[in-house]
Amino acid sequence: MISLNNEELIRIAKESMNKAYAPYSEFRVGAVVVTKNGKIFTGCNIENSSYGLTICAERVAIFSAIAAGETQIEKLVVVADTIEPVSPCGACRQVMSEFGDFEVILANLQGKVTTTKVSDLLPHAFRMKR
Ligand code: THU
Repeated sequence: MISLNNEELIRIAKESMNKAYAPYSEFRVGAVVVTKNGKIFTGCNIENSSYGLTICAERVAIFSAIAAGETQIEKLVVVADTIEPVSPCGACRQVMSEFGDFEVILANLQGKVTTTKVSDLLPHAFRMKR
């Protein structure tokens, strides 16, 4: 199993960011999920002319991992061209919380990096009582 460090993961997230389909906002986001099995899944934001159908990079990466049968998430890396490290939207925070309290690395293109975790991004997350 190859284990990539945060710098390498941020580089991969930047490559994903460049694949964003964002003709409306022109705001590109890249994401990388690392699973507990050491696999990586990438995502970029994908917009639509019916704006509400747009999906964020974080959710593309997470859903891609889930669809591959990888439900144990170790880490999520997110990159965008923001002044401060990019801060994930509320919908993505809720989706993250579905899959555990994993580490989240937020970065911008200037090399500013913030390390946080899902429960800090979304305290008191909604969960169905079962
Ligand atoms: N976006 C993401 O990909 N992730 C976020 O956490 C926030 C927003 C995308 C959605 C849309 O394509 C663009 O950024 C502007 O909102």
